[in-house]
Amino acid sequence: MAIFGPRANLWMNTALVSVVVLFLGALLSIWVVPVMGYNTQERYAPEQPVPFSHRHHVTGLGLDCRYCHMTVETGQYAGMPPTETCMTCHSQIWTHAGVLEPVRQSFAENISLRWNWVYRLPDYVYFDHSIHIAKGVGCTECHVSIGDEALTRKTTTLYMSWCLDCHRNPAPHLRPLDQVFNPSWKRTANTPSGTALMTAYHIHPETLSDCGVCHR
Ligand code: HEC
Ligand code: HEC
Ligand code: HEC
Ligand code: HEC
Ligand code: HEC
Repeated sequence: MAIFGPRANLWMNTALVSVVVLFLGALLSIWVVPVMGYNTQERYAPEQPVPFSHRHHVTGLGLDCRYCHMTVETGQYAGMPPTETCMTCHSQIWTHAGVLEPVRQSFAENISLRWNWVYRLPDYVYFDHSIHIAKGVGCTECHVSIGDEALTRKTTTLYMSWCLDCHRNPAPHLRPLDQVFNPSWKRTANTPSGTALMTAYHIHPETLSDCGVCHR
């Protein structure tokens, strides 16, 4: 009598296949799923009262970020534009467009438009726009493709590890101060090196990863 019956091969094969399948499944969930962006809410674009397009207004019309986000250079928050800012143009152009009805209504009734947050940190994290702007960190380092977005969507995880990746080594993320608001800026051969900019801006990364910097 054979020690291994005719079924043994089948069992062995099934077992081997299962091990391989499980292994691939584990790899997939550890390695692929986190970078797909589903569980990080990357690409998340909330419903807005008006389908506002940065592609049209920033890249198309060439408007500066500060025209609408007025406190980004001076404050913790960038700020949202008052309806008057929209009406500077939209009392003259696209005056009857249906999509702009909420804007006209907001203006007529003097009630601000309620935009839904795209980028949002938990309350226990301290963040400040002005310090980043003052040290040559461009808007698109964090709001990656904003100048090209027809609808604003989240392009970064805002995970602690994302903040720390830059805080540990800011040099490659710095640009000349006059390029901070340029959504299509690219490094060229003439751009000063990141290390030169670190010195110019007096950036000291040694303490930038201390817990107290962001958890106050
Ligand atoms: C004409 C006005 C206008 C200009 C110019 C403008 N924005 Fe905006 N921005 C808005 C409005 C309105 C919203 C809210 C609707 C939305 O999320 O798309 C917004 C939303 C955003 C958000 C998402 C905010 C959130 O909810 O988390 C970011 C980031 C942003 N803008 C960055 C920029 C940057 C960077 C520039 C310059 C390159 C810029 N904006 C120029 C009007 C403007
Ligand atoms: C170092 C990364 C970083 C840079 C650089 C940056 N942002 Fe932000 N931005 C954030 C984070 C993080 C939030 C969410 C803040 C929160 O929840 O308190 C945010 C939120 C916003 C918001 C919505 C909330 C608010 O602050 O009013 C706007 C608008 C915005 N950013 C515009 C800009 C513009 C314009 C620039 C460039 C001038 C810019 N950001 C540069 C990281 C950045
Ligand atoms: C400097 C002038 C100017 C300002 C300020 C301005 N817009 Fe516009 N907007 C335009 C022009 C021009 C168009 C037509 C764009 C096109 O189709 O090429 C437009 C188009 C639009 C549209 C139609 C959809 C699209 O993007 O084509 C919406 C919605 C809109 N604007 C919303 C707003 C809101 C909300 C604000 C205020 C936060 C605002 N705009 C501020 C000039 C302006
Ligand atoms: C792309 C690079 C970059 C990213 C991403 C970034 N930071 Fe920063 N951060 C900097 C630089 C550069 C400074 C200025 C350091 C200095 O002045 O020495 C800074 C400074 C700060 C400061 C002020 C530190 C102080 O000593 O006063 C805080 C708070 C801060 N960052 C919080 C955050 C948080 C929270 C996030 C993530 C949501 C974040 N940062 C993401 C580059 C970045
Ligand atoms: C540059 C900014 C920054 C620094 C420095 C930083 N954190 Fe955070 N931390 C964040 C942000 C942003 C979040 C929220 C996003 C997330 O959960 O990843 C967070 C979340 C956390 C959480 C909650 C995590 C969870 O899973 O809910 C803990 C705990 C924490 N941090 C501890 C620390 C400790 C301990 C240090 C020092 C070793 C530290 N952090 C330094 C930015 C920072």
